[in-house]
Amino acid sequence: MKILIIGGGGREHAIAWKISGSPKVDKIYCAPGNAGIAELAECVDMNVMDFDAQVAFAREKEIDLTIIGPDDPLVAGAVDAFEAAGLRVFGPRKSAALLEGSKSFSKDLMKKYGIPTAAYEVFDSPETALSYLKTAKMPIVLKADGLALGKGVLICNTRKEAEKGVKSLMLDKQFGSAGDRIVVEEFMTGREVSVLSFVDGKIVKIMTSAQDHKRAKDGDQGLNTGGMGTFSPSPFYTEEVDKFCKQYIYQATVDAMKAEGREFKGIIFFGLMLTENGPRVLEYNARFGDPETQVVLPRMKNDIVEVFEACIDGTLDQIDLQFEDNAAVCVVLASEGYPEKYEKGYPITGLEAFKGQDSYFAFHAGSKLEGSKTVVTNGGRVLGVTAVGRDLKEARKNAYEAAEWVSFENKYMRRDIGKGIDETG
Ligand code: AMP
Ligand code: GLY
Repeated sequence: MKILIIGGGGREHAIAWKISGSPKVDKIYCAPGNAGIAELAECVDMNVMDFDAQVAFAREKEIDLTIIGPDDPLVAGAVDAFEAAGLRVFGPRKSAALLEGSKSFSKDLMKKYGIPTAAYEVFDSPETALSYLKTAKMPIVLKADGLALGKGVLICNTRKEAEKGVKSLMLDKQFGSAGDRIVVEEFMTGREVSVLSFVDGKIVKIMTSAQDHKRAKDGDQGLNTGGMGTFSPSPFYTEEVDKFCKQYIYQATVDAMKAEGREFKGIIFFGLMLTENGPRVLEYNARFGDPETQVVLPRMKNDIVEVFEACIDGTLDQIDLQFEDNAAVCVVLASEGYPEKYEKGYPITGLEAFKGQDSYFAFHAGSKLEGSKTVVTNGGRVLGVTAVGRDLKEARKNAYEAAEWVSFENKYMRRDIGKGIDETG
């Protein structure tokens, strides 16, 4: 088979790596890819939003299956464009990707179908939002309705902060039209868990759990980032939690989408908060998580191409999804200064140590090939070093060891990914 992957981050590198292990696959293309993906796939310089170019390429190269990685193209209808051209593609159509593309849509869906989530109100005008805030309980959470690069959520401790937040989202348009409408939500406390799942329109199969560290600094301090590291499984995702979510959240979401005429095929990423009143949905994503994928796929036993095909064909019931009884930790190596100002273009050394390893991975995100040999930094999050181990403690030790194999100017990482999580830690 010939496969095309759309995207160019650490998530897509992990997907490309997993696909490369499938005996069904002869050739992988990735658009646009990155320097790490280029070791496994032929990278093609195409914009992730240029569906015409992608479809033309897929036709010309006789691609058998295309995987859409990021949220933006999914929400904008990438899958519909491929399907309209009669091409096989993995991911939700535009109508179903709305599960991630609109927070008010997903909140209304959960309310209508009784799926546990935080209480909320939706506002289309800053005046009504501000008047609601006068009597609302603090802290409170404001969310831009549309996609905002994962940054459209504001946790406000005081009324003043919340008023400022409404102004910046709705009047100053900090995230453009994503803030034309906002969701104002009850603040919840508890452990967060990420659960990725495969969905074939009718049924859902859950992958192993993971958790990411979103803040830039140790001890979950500093600014929010795209993710500084992950671990899998989450010890907080107990059998009891799993049972509750299977009963009230996972299949209920897939059924709700079907009932709304928005049959979902692809990945649903359930962002959960384990509150003292039980698990609640924080958010849905309609795609693999980044950097959750970098710890989940190295633990997956199945041929992922078979699972993708089962989702498209509606035969996921025939797949026995299995994960290794081990653990994985991913430590993101970032450019000092991220998520604010940072410099790019520094040579990265030490990557050859990962060649031929099956327990250590360097999943590239912001990297680029300069000339034919030199890999240089090209983003805030440069790469994610993943290692597996028998348990979290061993995986963490291995990941931090391997993180030292890699050098580049201004390299920065958190030192506490997965630390203090399990009793052995
Ligand atoms: P989201 O993009 O909706 O996942 O929100 C980003 C982050 O904001 C989440 O991972 C949580 O840490 C936090 N968050 C979102 N909604 C709430 C909430 N209702 N209560 C507390 N924290 C929240
Ligand atoms: N790691 C969170 C996300 O992919 O949205």
